[in-house]
Amino acid sequence: MVSIDVRNAYVDFPIFDAKTRSLKKKVIGKVGGKIGTGSRIPIIEALRDVTISLKEGDRVGLVGHNGAGKSTLLRLLSGIYEPTRGSARVVGKVAPVFDLGVGMDPEISGLENIMIRGLFLGMTRKEMEKRVDDITEFTELGDFLQMPLRTYSTGMRVRLALGIVTSIDPEILILDEGIGAVDAAFMAKARDRLKDLVRRSGLLVFANHSDEFLAEFCDSAIWMDEGEVKQQGSLREVLTAYKGRDPFQNLSPEALERIGQAPVLSGNGGE
Ligand SMILES: Nc1ncnc2c1ncn2[C@@H]1O[C@H](COP(=O)(O)OP(=O)(O)OP(=O)(O)O)[C@@H](O)[C@H]1O
Ligand SMILES: [Mg+2]
Repeated sequence: MVSIDVRNAYVDFPIFDAKTRSLKKKVIGKVGGKIGTGSRIPIIEALRDVTISLKEGDRVGLVGHNGAGKSTLLRLLSGIYEPTRGSARVVGKVAPVFDLGVGMDPEISGLENIMIRGLFLGMTRKEMEKRVDDITEFTELGDFLQMPLRTYSTGMRVRLALGIVTSIDPEILILDEGIGAVDAAFMAKARDRLKDLVRRSGLLVFANHSDEFLAEFCDSAIWMDEGEVKQQGSLREVLTAYKGRDPFQNLSPEALERIGQAPVLSGNGGE
């Protein structure tokens, strides 16, 4: 059974080369985490006293302004960051997808990249070998898979990256934005694969700014604000609080059903 248990976690970034004196305390912005000015070195408090507990089957959307701490939280869950204080216990193999292109080597072929990227995402070489045909078919890259990645156009790279990511069987899937940046036409084709990927995942945590994407993949949500968990509950309830209006209010009950959202606002924490 996979699980995530974060208790009173803080992630601080001390900034040694900041022009401390020019930090204007009085200018309060909506965007960005909290900058602590108590010590001589300014510290960006990217996560502050975060406590969350997730279990197998959870499909959680992360929402919040730019700089609210979403990516930092995802990195904490992926083991890329350690908490400065508090704890983050993750049971299960994490497949972290922060940027579709990250982890791809321009000098080796598409085929070799399938292997390397697959290994990075927690698969074995054997498992990836079994998936090559399927990835080839989906990406429509054909013989280009023998060519070095540097010869690919941007769209070709995205196809390959998406083909690989959607072929894995993750215990814990961590998705940060990226996926939403794929062009609409290809996205339509990738949609079913992404849905299948999410279905196969033991647990999903997905940071995104699009209601539509969130609705498609998540049923619950966490709203991050200045590094803190501001609200946690059903997706609809959290989005309504975050946006100040119900983003799904104009949808018919059938449409709500189709995107997997409850027709009435539930107040019970999304279970
Ligand atoms: N490597 C880093 N060094 C210093 N500060 C950082 C670092 N990474 C993030 N931060 C800061 O931590 C805070 C949270 O950033 P984070 O990237 O987690 O936000 P986010 O919610 O993912 O925003 P976005 O929606 O723009 O992706 C921000 O104030 C940011 O400036
Ligand atoms: Mg981010």
